[in-house]
Amino acid sequence: MKTRYSFVDETRLREFDEVFLKAGEIIRKGGLVAFPTETVYGLGANALDKAAVKKIYVAKGRPSDNPLIVHISSLPELYGVAEDVSPLALKLIDAFLPGPLTMIFKKKPIVPRETSGGLDTVAVRFPENVVARRFIRACGVPVAAPSANTSGRPSPTSAGHVLKDLNGKIDMIIDGGSSRLGLESTIVDLSRETPTLLRPGSITVDMLKNVIGELKIDETILKKPSQDLRPLAPGMKYKHYSPLCDITIIKGDTNAAESKIKELTAEALNQGKKCGIIASDSDMGLFEGCGAAVLELGSKGQPETAAAGLFAVLRRCDDLGLDCAFIRAFPEEGVGLAVMNRLKKAAGYKIIDAE
Ligand code: TXA
Ligand code: MG
Repeated sequence: MKTRYSFVDETRLREFDEVFLKAGEIIRKGGLVAFPTETVYGLGANALDKAAVKKIYVAKGRPSDNPLIVHISSLPELYGVAEDVSPLALKLIDAFLPGPLTMIFKKKPIVPRETSGGLDTVAVRFPENVVARRFIRACGVPVAAPSANTSGRPSPTSAGHVLKDLNGKIDMIIDGGSSRLGLESTIVDLSRETPTLLRPGSITVDMLKNVIGELKIDETILKKPSQDLRPLAPGMKYKHYSPLCDITIIKGDTNAAESKIKELTAEALNQGKKCGIIASDSDMGLFEGCGAAVLELGSKGQPETAAAGLFAVLRRCDDLGLDCAFIRAFPEEGVGLAVMNRLKKAAGYKIIDAE
């Protein structure tokens, strides 16, 4: 790790021209730079440079068949990497970009197979975060970037998380503070006959349908993947977001869920386990004095606040050395669909019905 820079105030970006110059130079020379986006931190390399892209897979310990998202800093750059940008795509661009939406197109030959994981499609994202865009512009090339975590760990939503996972393995981290949204971008595949949602995120199903009408949903977003039911996004099949701590999701109305969590906590404590309960700000009081560490996650009824804090709280479970933690299920609507998608993976699909 050579350098880490902090941006406390985004309006003062111009004062940091030197940082971006340096970051751009590292990328053009084939190095790796972690940078903030509005979703999670990304680990960037020159998307058109096979050797640079391979370094991403090594640093993350990522399987090589898992394609990377190509990040751009202006719309014309899209046409440099993607074929067949349809009128439907233009509608989505108009409605949501720059922002937390990734679109999949047929790829141009200039995009190496190392970047596309051997596929003939390419995922493209035009982030809204100003530090991200300033960085990509300074690179002067499209930037391939997965989330900047060790493969399988919860995605990083702060520079500290990146440092914890990748210290010594990358050339630079640009610190832009905590990620505003906290969950990775919504992914829509536009290379298929019907636009298909591959990963839910802050741009919700309803928001997408309002703009494009028909939208298929990859079945594994709603059901547990299996040998017969494989996710369409290669990366969604891998173990993901997993803290070492054993997470259990509790379904059911407030009273039933509260009793169940208390019962399971008492059982775990009896077995000598170090135990945590993850609860919304207003629910934390319910669990005071029951012997578990109570960790705050968002505000009740506001799934976007849970989205923003989810990965950080999963990492905290490990930092505290917890053996197990319990958390109530979120309604799978709006952003709640994305929160539950990540949470189910983190819990290895361990869900208990309290009723
Ligand atoms: O918000 C985000 O999207 C963040 C930030 C850094 O931009 N990036 C991110 O990248 O989450 P990553 O690599 O952690 O997740 C990308 C997902 C993987 O599941 C991958 O398999 C899928 O996108 N993907 C990428 N290219 C694809 C393609 N051509 N076809 C299908 N799935 C693709
Ligand atoms: Mg990832």
